[in-house]
Amino acid sequence: MCSEKTEQPRKRALSCIQPSGIPTLGNYLGALKNWVAMQEDFEGIFAVADLHAITVRQEPAKFRQQIYSAYALLLAIGLDPQKSTVFIQSHVPQHTQLSWLLSCYTQFGELSRMTQFKDKSARHADNINAGLFTYPVLMAADILLYQPDFVPVGADQKQHLEIARDIAARFNGLYGEVFRVPEPYIAKAGAKVMSLQDPEKKMSKSDENVNAYISMLDSREEIIRKFKRAVTDSEAVVRVAPEKAGISNLIGIYSVITGKSTEEIEREFDGCGYGTFKTAVGEVVADELAPIRERYDQLMKDKAYLEENFRQGADRAAYMATKTLRKAAKKIGFVL
Ligand code: TYM
Repeated sequence: MCSEKTEQPRKRALSCIQPSGIPTLGNYLGALKNWVAMQEDFEGIFAVADLHAITVRQEPAKFRQQIYSAYALLLAIGLDPQKSTVFIQSHVPQHTQLSWLLSCYTQFGELSRMTQFKDKSARHADNINAGLFTYPVLMAADILLYQPDFVPVGADQKQHLEIARDIAARFNGLYGEVFRVPEPYIAKAGAKVMSLQDPEKKMSKSDENVNAYISMLDSREEIIRKFKRAVTDSEAVVRVAPEKAGISNLIGIYSVITGKSTEEIEREFDGCGYGTFKTAVGEVVADELAPIRERYDQLMKDKAYLEENFRQGADRAAYMATKTLRKAAKKIGFVL
């Protein structure tokens, strides 16, 4: 007897990255690599969150370049603009429009509790602007406009995702099912890649010390040099332990890239000094990033190709976003 196969609609995954510098190995392992893996089974929607980046001051010419660069990197890692919707946030004005609506359903108290706001306002004490404060509302709009099932992010975005879910649930509670309440998708491995110089801190593209992070465009030599200099401990045993944050971080990185388990790695490097292990980590990272850098260099030479793709991506995104925005506005009582 033949069994009838019913086509299930694909689940939707959405995520964004800020063009606030060249993405790091942390961005790649915590988020971008998962986006590429998801695009086969999910309907992917991915954006360069340029509006979020101006919560800290950007130099205009450099900023423009970083936006192109971030978009090119999304294609270079393997996002296919024919399969997924890949666009630039500010090209779809519905993001800022929904953000205003949602800000009226978000409490001052809940925004005040955001740890990223507290951290960033401490780091940029001379520019604690309203955008920095309402940043999670714009992020909620980015997400809720597209009704995604999953939001693949690194662990540092978990709190922002929770507030987006709270805002959605609150709005739905008042007006009925307008927004899908999405689930975070935080992979176990790579969700928090730590700084190579201070393994208690996350790896960040805004770190003042360039040795603390691997940029996705670093050369092979730079990558290996930075890993060789990574801060570890004096025990010289390759094993994961809470008091060995530096080495545990390197094992984590090696594990995500090679797919080997912690136990396998500990066995592989049993009796080896840190020097051998650090070089091995540097090499696998350099091998992983080399083809991405090559595709990136090609793409950056073809601005017309990038433009054609981000325009098309924005058209597709705007079509979806308009539907949700209109639905939300109508529920509130606006005359459409
Ligand atoms: P952003 O640009 O800081 O980072 C992009 C993605 O990289 C992840 N990430 C990390 N993962 C593991 N280890 C690290 N050291 C590390 N550093 C960064 C982040 O968790 C993120 O997934 N607010 C967001 C951008 C955004 C967004 C959105 C995300 C705007 N709108 C809507 C999801 C949905 C941000 O600043 O990410």
